[in-house]
Amino acid sequence: MRTVFAVVFFFVYAHLGTLSLRTLSDDPCDSTKLPDPRKLRSDQITVLMNGYSESRIPLLRSIAATYAASPPVAAVVILWGNPSTPTRTLAELSHNFTIAYTGAAPISLVRQASDSLNARFLPRPFITTRGVIICDDDVEVDPKSIEFAFRVWAANPHRLIGLFARAHDLDLSRREWIYTVHPDKYSIVLTKFMVLKTEYLYKYSCEGGARMMEARKAVDMAQNCEDILMNFVVAEEGNAGPMLVGAEKVRDWGDGRNDEGLGLKEREVGLSSRRGEHRKRRGGCIGDFHRILRRMPLRYGYGKVVNSIAEEGLCMKDGKLVFCDQWP
Ligand SMILES: *[C@@H]1O[C@H](CO)[C@@H](O)[C@H](O)[C@H]1NC(C)=O
Repeated sequence: MRTVFAVVFFFVYAHLGTLSLRTLSDDPCDSTKLPDPRKLRSDQITVLMNGYSESRIPLLRSIAATYAASPPVAAVVILWGNPSTPTRTLAELSHNFTIAYTGAAPISLVRQASDSLNARFLPRPFITTRGVIICDDDVEVDPKSIEFAFRVWAANPHRLIGLFARAHDLDLSRREWIYTVHPDKYSIVLTKFMVLKTEYLYKYSCEGGARMMEARKAVDMAQNCEDILMNFVVAEEGNAGPMLVGAEKVRDWGDGRNDEGLGLKEREVGLSSRRGEHRKRRGGCIGDFHRILRRMPLRYGYGKVVNSIAEEGLCMKDGKLVFCDQWP
């Protein structure tokens, strides 16, 4: 009997010991554990891809392989956010990555320590590049567009670059912020695919004092809107709105149009009410962040940067194509 107690006590004690050690040494905001920002490389980029659904692993593998084969990509890291996925599955996936894609950038897998949506923006000691691509596991982007988006970002490193845009707006009659799609302007790019300075991960996760802490808490409460908050952070830092890049070919598997097993009609009915609810919640987040941070840094961007045949950046302005260097 005594031995049993001793053993149990030992395990509890040992567990507590590792826990406190972990919290001390795993502080993601401990900048001494992160690479010197001046030594980060600018010629390449790190891809941080969210992974969650086990049934989508085959798609995730193919998307990760596309990123890994892209010349500017230094590494692909999958941030696995589903806490109930068996370790065995992840070990197998990880192993498959090590054997499958020799010659391309390495693909690795990190299990997220928490299910907070903020975790996708944590600064990471393994990021050796000045920029990161944040993306989802169900959005396929063609290789040329990945490279082009990287080049647009490299020329505009203080801005947020994206392939999917939305806008904030003020509903004057209700006096509240709304989340919407605007035909000719945008102020928010989505995490389906965005490129940003690695430094902004630190700003999002570790700076901004009590107000940013409250804003990050609001993300956890809403279980949504971490992308909108990142748009606030970058617009504030760079004092500029995001830039939308036109991709040649994008396939969004998470898009409702790819819903299977539903008739067209019920799909559309379900979608429009879900979309309405989704927009309302996102509008609520914009209002919350404005109230918590006591400012509205979001800025509008206009037009879309497109890749021309001449490999020179062309921008769409007032319906006309102009060289991007003539474009604000
Ligand atoms: C790993 O690769 C094998 C062989 O291609 C495949 O059957 C299996 O489903 C893969 N596992 C994961 C988790 O990707």
